[in-house]
Amino acid sequence: MTNCSSQLPHPNSAPIDTMSNLTESAILDCLKDINDPEIGRPLSELGMLKRAAANDDGSINVDIDLPTHAYPGRERITDAIQSAISAKLPEAGATSVNFTATVQGVDSGGKIGLQVKNVIAVGSGKGGVGKSTTAASLAYGLKHFGAKVGLMDADVYGPSIPHLVGAKGEPNIEERQTSQGHTISRIQPIEHDGLKLMSIGFMIQEDQAVIWRGPMLHKLLTQFLQDTDWGELDYLIIDLPPGTGDVSLTLSQLLGLAGAVVVCTPQKVALLDAVKAVSMFNQVKIPILGIIENMSGDIFGRGGAKEAADGLSIPFLGEVPSDADIRIKGDDGQIAALFETDNPAREHLLHVVENVAIQIAKSIMETPRMPTLEII
Ligand SMILES: Nc1ncnc2c1ncn2[C@@H]1O[C@H](COP(=O)(O)OP(=O)(O)OP(=O)(O)O)[C@@H](O)[C@H]1O
Ligand SMILES: [Mg+2]
Repeated sequence: MTNCSSQLPHPNSAPIDTMSNLTESAILDCLKDINDPEIGRPLSELGMLKRAAANDDGSINVDIDLPTHAYPGRERITDAIQSAISAKLPEAGATSVNFTATVQGVDSGGKIGLQVKNVIAVGSGKGGVGKSTTAASLAYGLKHFGAKVGLMDADVYGPSIPHLVGAKGEPNIEERQTSQGHTISRIQPIEHDGLKLMSIGFMIQEDQAVIWRGPMLHKLLTQFLQDTDWGELDYLIIDLPPGTGDVSLTLSQLLGLAGAVVVCTPQKVALLDAVKAVSMFNQVKIPILGIIENMSGDIFGRGGAKEAADGLSIPFLGEVPSDADIRIKGDDGQIAALFETDNPAREHLLHVVENVAIQIAKSIMETPRMPTLEII
């Protein structure tokens, strides 16, 4: 829950006897055409305009429920509401806008009993571009804004999430009785820095190489999703392995994903990587949320991923600079530290997080979610 109020005294503060005009319906009517600055449709139609009330002194309270905690347009909404009330209800006093957030999502894992509003896969067309760093940053960033977040490592060949976030431990397995008297095993995710984590890295030695055959891979990922006590989450971020479409196919069979984020580096050839990743996600019917340029501004330049996004008519979700500190913090298991106020990467990362969250809210509010893929 996020609260943020602001007040502007109205120059013609109203006398008490004109208050009778300030009914809830009159106030709501005067706000009905205000567009959400991010989604571009009226707040009233989007269900974001929750309540409006006039107090005895003529001051007004408006309650807005945002579709995500990571919402960048609070001030713009406040300004638009205050301007509309001053212009159309001159008898009103100061207006304060109170924000809450209820993450929008469509039953991402309903089919397998997962209570997660939005599952986000992070992938790329090639290895080493910063998928895992981006996945961990998205998880920390969404949590920073106030959402309930899980982070699942689907890279069973080279799990890196435990190392990146500095988490250790072995997940507990709890046996439970169902109402029909059956015993079921539930895996408890590792709780770390307020995130729920699951990775094969918690179950094997760091230097242990594991060979997974296709069916085992499918089974393991199903267990990670279905048999893990994720609880109720707003977002579950899934870090994909490089290259293969196997994992994405399994995910799309099990879940109705909110979408995939494609991570690209800035080189001109990023376009080829992006095309590869986008075509892979298209094949397995996972919607694309957009492209992030990672390691922007290094020897490979800047802007290739944006060009790729434009060329493919896919949203560009922002750029994260190439920064030695991002690498060092990742190597030290300190991704969380990138969100400390003085860290130069923080603003870039938060901006990307907001764009991802808004993209999801937009896709939910504009179009119905793609159905879960039937097993081929
Ligand atoms: N923005 C950045 N600036 C500097 N270094 C970065 C940045 N993003 C990632 N790195 C570094 O690049 C390396 C690869 O990152 P990461 O492991 O996140 O990539 P990946 O795409 O998940 O790799 P893989 O394909 O092997 O899973 C790591 O050493 C990481 O610290
Ligand atoms: Mg990785």
